[in-house]
Amino acid sequence: MEIVIHDSVEDMARMAAGIFEDVLKTKENPVLGLATGSSPLPIYAELVRRHKEEGLSFAHAKSFTLDEYVGLPEGHPESYQQVIRNELTTLIDIPDTHVYSPDGGLDDILTAGERYEAAITAAGGIDVQLLGIGTDGHIAFNEPGSSLQSRTRVKTLTEQTRLDNARFFNGLEEVPYHAITQGLGTILDAKHLVLIAIGKSKAEAVVSMVEGGLAASCPASVLQMHPRATVFLDREAASFLKNYEYYNLVFERKPKWQTF
Ligand code: F6R
Repeated sequence: MEIVIHDSVEDMARMAAGIFEDVLKTKENPVLGLATGSSPLPIYAELVRRHKEEGLSFAHAKSFTLDEYVGLPEGHPESYQQVIRNELTTLIDIPDTHVYSPDGGLDDILTAGERYEAAITAAGGIDVQLLGIGTDGHIAFNEPGSSLQSRTRVKTLTEQTRLDNARFFNGLEEVPYHAITQGLGTILDAKHLVLIAIGKSKAEAVVSMVEGGLAASCPASVLQMHPRATVFLDREAASFLKNYEYYNLVFERKPKWQTF
């Protein structure tokens, strides 16, 4: 796991966007894994800027969102399918038919996980997967206790996650109880994982992810198993890390020839 600790969220967004740009420029049919929530927004803003000002093209890309609430009506403004369109995909040149999300509709919920896995496989697998981390250590909506080998399926949200996400709704009672989410095994299959965490509220989850044991109680700890995981942290999110100085040293001494 490569840990990058930085004061400036803009600088981190530039570095993370650079990883996406490399994939977009080197792969014929790039497959991007997208996250929702607040953490990825600076990266999406930078990708949109590169598209508008520098001509970075997403025309041949496909995107797969990590998760979706179960049971929200089609087109609900807080459905992740809608959020990812508003925040990124309608602002760049990716065809709308290439923007995939798990199907959170109740009609076919029993087959939705399997269908989503099949779509990811048919696209050739995810080249780069963006991730945020929940205050309870979740990635996507793999809440504590999730199997480390899980695939896309329905999970019950913790009350902490519902409370954290109530800010996007008109109150806690509107936040769904369930979500369909890529599993930890699904996420581990992506070729490169890029996680971003900002702020003190993430510090405890971050220290468990990076320096705790590999455990279902901190689903994000599966990043320790991935051969290519890059973690961007601001100083607050990194503040509980025991090896803080060492991570800074590794970054300062990163050889010029070594990319993320
Ligand atoms: C959303 C997702 C979640 C969030 C996490 C952090 O697609 O997968 O795991 O990344 O809850 O959310 P923010 O970034 O809003 O703090």
